[in-house]
Amino acid sequence: MTRPIQATIHGAALRHNLARMRAAAPDAKVWGVVKANAYGHGIERVWEGLRGADGFALLDLQEAERVRSLGWRGPILLLEGVFEPRDLELCSRLNLWHTVHCDEQIAMLAAHKTQQPHRVFLKLNSGMNRLGFAAQRFRAAWTRLDGLPQVDEISLMTHFADADSAKGIAQQVRVFEEATRDLPGERTLSNSAATLRFGGDAAVRGDWIRPGIAVYGSAPDYPQHDIAHWGLQPTMTLAARVIAVQQLAIGDTVGYGSSFTADAPLRIGVVACGYADGYPRHCSTGTPVLVDGVRTRLVGRVSMDMITVDLTPVPQAGFGSLATLWGRAANGAVLAMDEVAKAGGTVAYELMCALAARVPVLVE
Ligand SMILES: Cc1ncc(COP(=O)(O)O)c(C=O)c1O
Repeated sequence: MTRPIQATIHGAALRHNLARMRAAAPDAKVWGVVKANAYGHGIERVWEGLRGADGFALLDLQEAERVRSLGWRGPILLLEGVFEPRDLELCSRLNLWHTVHCDEQIAMLAAHKTQQPHRVFLKLNSGMNRLGFAAQRFRAAWTRLDGLPQVDEISLMTHFADADSAKGIAQQVRVFEEATRDLPGERTLSNSAATLRFGGDAAVRGDWIRPGIAVYGSAPDYPQHDIAHWGLQPTMTLAARVIAVQQLAIGDTVGYGSSFTADAPLRIGVVACGYADGYPRHCSTGTPVLVDGVRTRLVGRVSMDMITVDLTPVPQAGFGSLATLWGRAANGAVLAMDEVAKAGGTVAYELMCALAARVPVLVE
């Protein structure tokens, strides 16, 4: 018998969120960002939902091969470019576009033997100080690339550090505009947060947007705004059944470390989901959970295979009742992953990427 736990990937919600991002950046093309196995959802599982994107952006060559195996003939962009010379052979063979962010990658390209010149995205470090050429070295890198027979078209790219917060993107946009002024080529700047917050500005949306997290149903600037505010829908539901019920008396404690003590008689349900399924271990008493679609709370510590939940708001619930840890319950109630992530001191990016391999996944 399999454990009564299941994740569901919602194709219609992926389609909806993709359309929402398109609407936020009119006229821009959309990279479906499917790195990290489509943010933990599974590339093959999101395929039907995201195949309406104009291209797919990812990091791993194996993931690029998987996207090609799905029959995708359109653009694929390697967001970190190549890591070693032989990666360029695969780029030639699979027609992958790749980011160029450092001198070593230009040297690899210059030494690469190919009949098929490559489309590259030259990356500017506009202030994040992760990948990219500094502004004062950007034009020299562009000129060097432009002179290579291995290079076909050069596009221009940067990435924002603070698109989701008060600091915003204005300074990085200024640096990008200055460094790329008069250079030909398509531009790509914006992740989810920049697209939702500033996508109305043509300079910010550029020719391609690169939304990831919003497509997967999380508000990039949570808790300032939630998914309802941005018109996004959950794309992953994690649900598990109640496998035992306990009646606590005043003073009884629950679970490891006895971290929760009942101050009134309390019925609790034991749910078949723990940190080995990807539920965050740092969530503590009070973290929201839906039982039979009704909002209640986690009580006590998260253990490897189980959590315990307060059944007070759902007196009819018992053995076999369905707990929704995040996503959408059968009655339509939504518990955004953002809320659970915040209660666990993390972000939805980490939760979705951490869905454990042992959890069976249904695609609908
Ligand atoms: C270069 C690049 N572009 C786009 C994205 C998508 O960002 P988000 O998921 O915040 O929309 C990422 C994700 O980290 C990235 O590294």
